[in-house]
Parts: sequence; structure tokens; C-alpha cells
Amino acid sequence: MVKEIPLFKKYPKLTNIPWVSIIVSPTPVHKMGQTSKTLKRDIWVKRDDLTHTIYGGNKPRKYEFVFADILKKGKKTIVTLGSIGTNHGLATTVTARDFGLSTHLFVLEQPLSEGVRENLLCHHFFGAKLHLMRNPFHRKLAMKIKLILDRSSYFVTLGASSPLGTLGFVNAAFELKEQIEKKIIPEPDKLFVTVGSLATCAGLVLGLELA
Ligand SMILES: Cc1ncc(COP(=O)(O)O)c(C=O)c1O
Repeated sequence: MVKEIPLFKKYPKLTNIPWVSIIVSPTPVHKMGQTSKTLKRDIWVKRDDLTHTIYGGNKPRKYEFVFADILKKGKKTIVTLGSIGTNHGLATTVTARDFGLSTHLFVLEQPLSEGVRENLLCHHFFGAKLHLMRNPFHRKLAMKIKLILDRSSYFVTLGASSPLGTLGFVNAAFELKEQIEKKIIPEPDKLFVTVGSLATCAGLVLGLELA
């Protein structure tokens, strides 16, 4: 696999870090006409909803490093967690399927909204194995047992938020820099991102500092 990602172009010595191509990149940038008019300043969006043809969002960037580690270690089964409608679990399952890996989701209950129902159907469609647990303690125990008994299994942290996953967003900052240099987008004053674990934000902060 040729490693031509912006981060490795800048730091070739980092190519010893496992990486596998997953995302469609660079993701396009669009000026938001109406919002810019309303707020009287130029607002741009980087379309990271388009990182993947089936299931975009922020996870696939993280998976380029996390799945590379999984493949390098020869693991066959992914163990991860969430609630029954977990977006992270679905994104993991979709990506795992592309690599011929199976996904076990250890999930807690949550109210059955329309979105949760849709994700449950998608979990089923993409072949996730769901383990419904009563509480976080039971879930932790069940995951540990699975990981001990199945030596081919690999634990993916919630939201793939780990040092490896964070590298996906260090690379995203370098990708944005290339778009600025090519004058596809003006250099932004501020970047806004959604926040959960802060791994996305941490990767971008580090990447922008280095880029
Ligand atoms: C689409 C999207 N972007 C960003 C985030 C926040 O990610 P992080 O946990 O890295 O802060 C989430 C959280 O799940 C998400 O679903």
C-alpha cells in the first residue's frame, strides 16, 4: 500500500506507523452561502460526512490507523461497545466487513428513537453480533471474557478514540493545509468541530500546530 497521505509526505519517518486506506480524501470544502450571509462572515464546511461511501463522519479517519493495527496483528474479530443505536459500532461494523472481519458490539439499552431503530436494522444488515448487557459493569466483564477466550479478538475503544485513532485527525490537519496551499479554501481564523471524547479535537490541535 503506497502511503501518500499528507502526514507521511511531511514526516516520511512516520511511515513505519501502520496505516491502511479507508477514507475518500481529500474531503471537499464548500462555502455555505446562506449561513455566511446571515452571519456576515465567510463560513466554510469541510465535508467529513463524505469520508466513506457507506458510513462517513469522523470515525473512518481514525480507522485508517486503528484498522491497520488490527490487520498487522492478524486479528479477526473486533470487540467494541456503545448503546444499542451506536453510530460508532455501526461505523466499525461497516469497515470491519470490508476487511472480512466480524464485529461484536457489547451494548446497553437506550430509548428506541427512529434513529436507534434504523441503526439496529443496519447493525443486522452489516452483520454485527450484538450482546445486550444490563449495565456497564456486566458489559466490561463480558468484553474481558470475550477478549481472553478469543485470542483473535481486538478491542476498539469507544469512538476509536486512542492515540492511534487520533492520528487520523493529525493527518486531517495536513490535508486541510494542502487545500489552503492550493487556494481551494482561504486559511480559516477558527475551526469548529463536534466533541465527544475530544480525540478529534486533540488530533486537529496537534496537526495544526505541526502543519
Ligand atoms: C460525526 C461525529 N463527529 C465528531 C464526534 C466527536 O468525536 P470525538 O469523540 O473524537 O470527540 C462524534 C462523536 O461520536 C461524531 O459522531
